[in-house]
Formats: sequence, structure tokens, C-alpha cells
Amino acid sequence: MKLCMIGTGYVGLVSGACFSDMGNKVICADIDKKKISQLNLGKIPIYEPGLEELVKKNFNQKRLSFTTNISWAIRNSDIIFICVGTPTFKNSNKADLKYVFQVANLISKNISKYKLIVTKSTVPVTTGDKIENIIKKRNKKILFDVVSNPEFLREGEAIRDFIYPDRVVVGTLSKKANRVMKSLYLPIVKKDSRYFNTSRRGAELVKYASNAFLATKISYINELANLCEKASVDIKDISIGIGLDQRIGERFLRAGPAYGGSCFPKDTKALVDTGDKFKVNLSIVKNVVKSNENRKDLLIKRIHQIMGKKCKNKKITFLGVTFKPNTDDMREATSLKMISYLSKKGAKIYYNDPSGKKDILDKIKNVKFCKSISSACFKSDLIILHTEWNDYKQLNFKKLVNKNNFKIYDLRNLYSPKKMLRNKINYFGIGR
Ligand SMILES: NC(=O)c1ccc[n+]([C@@H]2O[C@H](COP(=O)([O-])OP(=O)(O)OC[C@H]3O[C@@H](n4cnc5c(N)ncnc54)[C@H](O)[C@@H]3O)[C@@H](O)[C@H]2O)c1
Repeated sequence: MKLCMIGTGYVGLVSGACFSDMGNKVICADIDKKKISQLNLGKIPIYEPGLEELVKKNFNQKRLSFTTNISWAIRNSDIIFICVGTPTFKNSNKADLKYVFQVANLISKNISKYKLIVTKSTVPVTTGDKIENIIKKRNKKILFDVVSNPEFLREGEAIRDFIYPDRVVVGTLSKKANRVMKSLYLPIVKKDSRYFNTSRRGAELVKYASNAFLATKISYINELANLCEKASVDIKDISIGIGLDQRIGERFLRAGPAYGGSCFPKDTKALVDTGDKFKVNLSIVKNVVKSNENRKDLLIKRIHQIMGKKCKNKKITFLGVTFKPNTDDMREATSLKMISYLSKKGAKIYYNDPSGKKDILDKIKNVKFCKSISSACFKSDLIILHTEWNDYKQLNFKKLVNKNNFKIYDLRNLYSPKKMLRNKINYFGIGR
């Protein structure tokens, strides 16, 4: 089949590469000229394990191409995937859909035969109706379908998630559109994934309901971790104890920093906004958003306390700054708030991250990227284990820091408090 992905970010590039690997002809289109010229030179603009090989293979076999000519991409495809960003408006919970509607307008100008338009971007319920209306205005006589096909991949595991998803959700009541979508996804669905067809609005809401549920699980265990710290109980035992109940499940029950990334923070807010629009009080989700914000402040206070309220001129090391491992994504990472706070307090911040230096941290005073873990840790006063990259799981801190009286704040509970005590290291974890 001939497809195009409009928006070549985490979702557009991964799904485009995977669809092309299944034998489809895929055009990845984006307005970002730098991104597209990099891709045409074989350079991958994001950090995602396995993606480079997949892109190169399909690019060389001429099944995958890249362009900034979006109208051309639309005209030369039968199925058009909308994969642009849907960020939150500043100072509001509302999803900003301007990129989605820009694409819808462009599609409306470039249809001359039947097209299947598929929204992969995460969009509030009823957005599909709006996209349909935009395209209908110009194309009264031409048949087209607008389908919702939310994406559930996780950064860092994106290719595996795309090829082996738990489910493929397709929102359409059109038999024709459903038939085309089913045959597109056949190679994936054959591998035991459930193909679930529902209404377009249903599919749109499934995505938000999933993300808000997972965010709730994280906030729930994080709040319990606060209680564990006061009650001298190890949160890991609570996670195991409740996770063994199959009705609850063990995943997303690891206490840590506030949830971050490009999805949970914005999607929980957008769901609250949708509830407000329909005059439904989604009080649980509202409180999850609040709890997550409070958590950032709470952890900052804890750092302050660990440092004996003295941060000025102290060397503070961050091991990992991304919101989770195996991605370079800094969107809504807890580290951002922590680092700007510590910088204001006069600390000298050194960080290492396997995904490299972060431009967003260049804007903050007294922050330095270290290529090696050892230079980041050398003579540090406090090491904050922020992201659980494998690189940080077996470190000899005494050797790395090479001084007495340093402290470790392990936000991911990667190390054993008992072993740390035995090694006379001043160690603090989460909920233990
Ligand atoms: N990142 C994830 O893990 C993930 C997972 C599931 C769903 N989603 C959803 O998928 C959507 C895309 O997310 P992402 O992380 O891939 O975003 P992203 O920011 O990485 O990529 C979006 C791309 O769209 C491009 N773009 C913007 N306007 C455009 C236009 N008019 N025409 C063509 N290209 C345009 C941008 O230049 C950018 O490259 C969002 O709605 C997000 O919520 C993301």
C-alpha cells in the first residue's frame, strides 16, 4: 500500500519505518527541513534503539522516503497518517490542535481521489469530526474516510511496541475503511495482537483513558512511597505485594520521580479539559495532575533536606536527565525543575546521560555536561540517580567519587540500602 506519515517525529518516523518494513511504500513528510535533510543523509534525529538500522534498510530498498513537500506526499499516497504533535496550550489544560488542523487543511486541498485519513496523533474526542468537516468543505463530491488509530508505543521500546502491540485500536464505522486498516495491520495482528474496531470517538477516548489510567497508577504508588518513608516500610515490598494480584498487575507500580515525557503530562491535562468541556468532573484525573505537580516540589524539598539546606557551591551530579531510559526526550522530565532550582541555589551541576548533551540545559547557569560517568561523579557532594539507564546500575561510587562524605539520592531505587550502609555510603532512596 502507499502511505504517508505527516509529521516525522517519534511516532511518525517509527511507524513509517515499521510500515515500510512490512512491504508498504511509505513517505515520511515533515515541515522541519533540518530533520528531513538529516534523514535523507541517513542520520536519525532521535535516539531510539534499533531505529537507525530499520530506517537505513528500508530507505536503501526504496520503500521509505523523506520529504518536506507535504502536498506531494498527500497526492502520492492512498492512506495519510496524521502524526504531528498535540502539545498543551501555555497556562491551560487544553490540547493545541493547530498542527492537526493545518494538516487537515492541506489534505483538503490535495484530494482528487478516495483517501483514507488516519489520525495517529493523540487528539481529544470529537477531533475526528472536526477534521472531517474541514475536508468536507472543499471536497463535497469526493469520498474519503477519517479514521482514528491512536498509537500506544513507548519511547525507548518503540519498535517492539509497534510490531508487537497488545492491541491495535481502529475507530471507524466505515466498513471500507475498516477493511483497509485491517489488511494494513494484518502482519501485526497475526502475531497475537488484538485488532479492536470501535467508533472514531471511542478510539480517541481509549487513548486518553489508557494514559490517564497509567499515570494514576504511577501517582498512586508515588504517594504510597511518601507514606512508606514515614512508616519505615520498603515501597518495593508494597509494589510486589499488590502487583501479584492479577487484577492490579505489577507494571507501572515502581515509585520514582513525577511522571514526565511527551504524553502523560499533556494527556492527563487534556482529558481533564475534555471533561470540563462536556461538564463532567473527572476528579480522579484532576487530582493525579495535582499530585504529580506536588511530587516535583516534594522531591526538590527532599534534596534540600539531604544537603542540610546548603547547596551553594556544592557539586551535584545527575546520572541521567531524560524522563526515562533509552530515549533522548526531555519533555516534562523532573530533572528540569530540579536542575533549575539547584542552579538558583548556587549549586554546580554536572550531568551525564547516555543520550548525550541537552540543549535545553545549556540555558541554565552552572550546568555542565560530562561525557563520562567518572568525570560527572568525581568529587561530587551529591549524586542524584535520576534515570534508570543500564549504565548506572552497577557503579562503584566510592571509586568514582573519590572523597568522603558524599551522598546518593537514588530516585529509582536501583541500589540496596543495606549494601550502601555496609559500604558506609550516605544513601537515600524513594519510599524506603
Ligand atoms: N512520543 C510518544 O511516545 C508518543 C506515543 C504515542 C502517541 N504519541 C502522540 O503522537 C503525536 C506525535 O508525537 P511525537 O512524540 O511523535 O511528536 P514529535 O514532536 O516528535 O513530532 C511531531 C512532528 O510533527 C512535525 N509537524 C508539525 N506540524 C507539521 C505540519 N503541519 N506538517 C508536517 N509536519 C508537521 C514536527 O516538525 C515534528 O517533527 C502526539 O499527538 C503524541 O501525543 C506520542
